[in-house]
Amino acid sequence: MIDFDAISRDRLPALLRAMPKAELHIHIEGSLQPELIFALAQRNGVALPYASVQALRAAYAFTDLQSFLDIYYAGASVLLHEEDFFDMAMAYFRRAAADHVVHAELFFDPQTHTERGVGIGTVIAGLTRASRAAQAEFGISALLILCFLRHLSEDAALATLDAALPYREHFVGVGLDSSELGHPPEKFARVFARSRELGLHLVAHAGEEGPPAYIWSALDVLQVQRIDHGVRCVEDAALVARLAAQRVPLTVCPLSNVKLCVYPTLAAHPLPAMLDAGLCATINSDDPAYFGGYLNQNFIATFEALPQLTARHAHRLASNSFEASFAGADVKRRWTEALDKVFASG
Ligand code: ADE
Ligand code: ZN
Repeated sequence: MIDFDAISRDRLPALLRAMPKAELHIHIEGSLQPELIFALAQRNGVALPYASVQALRAAYAFTDLQSFLDIYYAGASVLLHEEDFFDMAMAYFRRAAADHVVHAELFFDPQTHTERGVGIGTVIAGLTRASRAAQAEFGISALLILCFLRHLSEDAALATLDAALPYREHFVGVGLDSSELGHPPEKFARVFARSRELGLHLVAHAGEEGPPAYIWSALDVLQVQRIDHGVRCVEDAALVARLAAQRVPLTVCPLSNVKLCVYPTLAAHPLPAMLDAGLCATINSDDPAYFGGYLNQNFIATFEALPQLTARHAHRLASNSFEASFAGADVKRRWTEALDKVFASG
């Protein structure tokens, strides 16, 4: 038994850092640091609309999701070769290992690359090789989730799924990301139905900027197993009750929500209320190179800003991340035992 009440608040930052955890909402293209963007631009002879690393970083003042996405897609334009995708993912895994991430499920956006003439096989080969290297070098297990860009058509998403099928064994699921408002989940009903027939796991961004109705349709029309973000569920009591009763995981990204002006400050974030309502909420970094922090920084800043969060909440968040993952039952049990050990000696 863990005596959570005996753990003082000043022990929390060290525990948050040391506890094993899974990251379930990381866009790998959002892990591209400005320095790596410039190095790859030089390596590949790509011209950037920014004069320097400093000028690029200075542009990271976002007012909403779209203002971020415009810069995020510009940053991804330097990725051309398998080695670029490998280097990008290895840089993320190195940071994740330092944060005691034991398992990561990486989103990737093939359409961002195929529309520039990069083959989907090139993207998947680089990310797959990095995932294997992450296991060997850092002991991190990694899975890939292919995301459809929701500002494009469903036909484009169907064509992307078809193009990915020769690489089916290398990704475990599909997701839905990019500009949410005006692009409700039901726009992608057919491609998610097809993905489900193929035995893929299903997730979707919903309720980040979009209304609770988008979370309902992600559940009822797309039949997703997890909701990415989902924070706007708190506006709808019946939806919260359903998510809690069915233990539908929500991959919450606190620093992202503040940078994209979903909430004015971390102190205003609904995460404590979500946890106390029994939701299977997790903490994630979303696009760490753009939002000011990798996974541990998300945990530490969130707990610092919200004094009602306790050691019990910290343990719950990590254990939710294992429960919500698409990993096997055996490894989940091992990670949970390792988590309990950290808290038992806390
Ligand atoms: N693509 C990368 N980050 C995203 C986010 N936070 N929401 C939607 N699409 C994204
Ligand atoms: Zn996201």
